[in-house]
Amino acid sequence: MSGLHGVDKVRRRLMLGCGAVMAASWLSPASSSDNRAQVVGAENPPNVRDIALRAGQAQIGLLGERGPLSDCWVYNNELFPIFRARKGERLRVTFKNALPEHTSIHWHGLRIPSDADGVPYISQAPVQPGERFLYEFAPPDAGTFFFHPHCNETGQTGRGLMGLLLVEGDTRGTPAADGDGLAGEHVLAMKDWRVREDGRFLDFKTVEGASRSGTFGTVRSVNGKPVERLTAPAHSDLRLRVLALDPTRVFDIGIEGAEAAVIAIDGHPTSPFPLKSWLLGPAQRIDLAVRMPKPGKIARVMDFRPSTPHEIATLAAVKSERSRARFAPRALEPASVPQPDLRNAQRMTFRLQAAADGAAMIAKSGSVEDPLTKALLDSLCAPGRSLWAINRQFWASEDNRQLPPPLAVLEAGRSYVWEIVNTSQHMHPMHLHGHAFTVLKSPAGEMRRYLADTVLLGPRERAEIAFVAAPGAWMFHCHLLEHQETGMMGWIRVA
Ligand code: C2O
Ligand code: CU
Repeated sequence: MSGLHGVDKVRRRLMLGCGAVMAASWLSPASSSDNRAQVVGAENPPNVRDIALRAGQAQIGLLGERGPLSDCWVYNNELFPIFRARKGERLRVTFKNALPEHTSIHWHGLRIPSDADGVPYISQAPVQPGERFLYEFAPPDAGTFFFHPHCNETGQTGRGLMGLLLVEGDTRGTPAADGDGLAGEHVLAMKDWRVREDGRFLDFKTVEGASRSGTFGTVRSVNGKPVERLTAPAHSDLRLRVLALDPTRVFDIGIEGAEAAVIAIDGHPTSPFPLKSWLLGPAQRIDLAVRMPKPGKIARVMDFRPSTPHEIATLAAVKSERSRARFAPRALEPASVPQPDLRNAQRMTFRLQAAADGAAMIAKSGSVEDPLTKALLDSLCAPGRSLWAINRQFWASEDNRQLPPPLAVLEAGRSYVWEIVNTSQHMHPMHLHGHAFTVLKSPAGEMRRYLADTVLLGPRERAEIAFVAAPGAWMFHCHLLEHQETGMMGWIRVA
């Protein structure tokens, strides 16, 4: 009903969009600094930025420069292309699907209208092979965001289909500046690959993984490479935008050999606090300000979670005129996200559960082999089996050919406090579409409150988030993609 209505509206927009001439002013992802120049030089009044985005196949080496190529699926022929926009600027993204299967684009973490949110059957019809689709929205918040399909996500993102959207909008200039400016800004987009030695992909989804902590990749990467190597002037400050793009791995990000502060979480500015180490689950991001060490010294961005810490990036300090000043990173301009009214907020509880009858479900879903049912489930982007649930509800099963009922119906403009209870033995990075919520209580005993779009719950942990409900239909799901695809997904209706 509301789904159909949404589809209609978007189709109309799509038709309008098809005739539009695309400026295709697309920026190369290679270096962030040349993109920046274009953004800064753009006209000041709110304008429209046209973006041409094409999902297609590309041969990319994931196993080092001399390694074999893999059949990747990417946007605009490259791995993790970076797009920059200004806060409030209107983006008109003309998307073309050149993949062999249907897809859609979800703009993760952006508080944009529901009909641009990219969820098949909730906000739009899937974009079939060969079709185009127009996404139009104005990002209301500055920050580090990314986008990805919301269909066969393990398979499509597993082959690389993701991009970055960096929204700039701090009118007070660069963050982390200590008077004479920021030496630079870099992206660290981390993702593991499920590839064999010959470059072929392994299964992205396994029952073992889906029912536990997910199926891990065989090769780690950052920006598509084994390690990122950066240089910057000694004693200068760098901004690092760190993104956990793996569907499975949880990172524990820290820095060795340099002072560092967290300046944003999931894109949203926080008042800077010293980084000890920070857990980043699938889809989560942090922005760091890092003070480069003395000339000749190397600092390292590390993942401390594995028993042998893993090196993500090296930051080599080169000679500079700069003298050593106190490290006092400046706060980014705060986001203008509506503040929830905690006193009058309505409370709701969501329990994350292993579907007790998971095994029975698999046995029962034998009929999924029936071609009609299979096609239907596939077109709904729904799993054939349910291993996980939220409040005993799991995303479409064979009995549930339409959208499942919403997990909750909320009132637009009203404040809510959600208690999220993880009753399972596994971690769940829970993501709510279309909102930036305040994390009131998060598991790790973090004392501070912060804005986020994804909250990571450890085994048997609980978290509390608060937000002002925005109108629309919004997904609430685990971003460990195998959990999402085996039931841990639901939607809320906000009217
Ligand atoms: Cu990045 Cu539905 O999520
Ligand atoms: Cu999960």
